[in-house]
Amino acid sequence: MTDPIMRADAVAYVVFARRDIATMVRFLEDFGFVDTRISLDQRRFLRGYGSQPYCVELIASDQDGFVGFGFTARSANDLERLAQATGATVEPHDAPGGGQRLRLHDPDGVRVDVVHGGAPVAPLPVREALSAVNTPTVARRINTPLRTELAPSPVFRIGHVVLQSTNFETTSSWYAQHLGVLPTDILSVADGSPALGFFRLDRGQEPTDHHSLAILAGPSPAMLHISTETIDLDAIGQGHQYLRGRGWSHHWGIGRHLLGSQIFDYWKDPVGDEWEHYADGDLMTADHPTGHDRLSRAGLWVWGDDLPESMRPPGPLPADAPPIARRIVDALLVPPRPWLP
Ligand SMILES: [Fe+2]
Repeated sequence: MTDPIMRADAVAYVVFARRDIATMVRFLEDFGFVDTRISLDQRRFLRGYGSQPYCVELIASDQDGFVGFGFTARSANDLERLAQATGATVEPHDAPGGGQRLRLHDPDGVRVDVVHGGAPVAPLPVREALSAVNTPTVARRINTPLRTELAPSPVFRIGHVVLQSTNFETTSSWYAQHLGVLPTDILSVADGSPALGFFRLDRGQEPTDHHSLAILAGPSPAMLHISTETIDLDAIGQGHQYLRGRGWSHHWGIGRHLLGSQIFDYWKDPVGDEWEHYADGDLMTADHPTGHDRLSRAGLWVWGDDLPESMRPPGPLPADAPPIARRIVDALLVPPRPWLP
């Protein structure tokens, strides 16, 4: 494979169009984001507890939808190289933090921004992870009861974005070529075709998440979920109770994933898009070898409830559905555990 044009450093933010901004802001605050109260040209911005100036941009619209997402680049040269390779223009980033931005679109039309030079914000104070865990053989927490707060799970940052694409190879190659993503795990269907790919950023020897982007082959382009990192299992558990108490729709979890190893919990926003809290995910360096396996429902989670019906492929598929979509349905229909249907 040829060298990528540049290697992205982090996922910066996600962008959604929403008819009802106020209700979406209420959900995101309950989910653990913080409203910046910055409003620019009908756009609202929410931040996390980390140093990104914002993590979610909401655009007032007469239609609900996923618009796209943004990556940070390590240098202004990266933006210049992307501009030369694509013909796109480097322009001022008209959003909190500022800096420079290049706007691309992936093969499915998803907006992909690459930003550099923005001013980071001071992280917000948050408790430490609960690392003083007592085990049968090691006493670490003595005379110190464990008390965590019933509160939103503090979201530090966007962890990953999962997209569905009608052309797995074209879309994954586009992200590899333009943003330097590396395949961490590739799952294939019965005929050997890749069906689900987990891609991480190439940060050399600096550890990075098991995946910042995942791509599922499917009958139509779609955004499947946005994942966010929080502190630990207790933050996920308390955030889960908090979201329940606020009346939002739970989707899947709490459980632990297999590929990426994250403890996870999925919720639906006011229009049904999926948002994941995670903690304790795998970190890899660039030299970690790519894993290859067969796609199965059993291979998506280690413990926790089975994949919800709505996350499984819809059936029956349209007559003109690509063969890969049928093979994915077949793979995901196999019961994941002996005691499950
Ligand atoms: Fe996820």
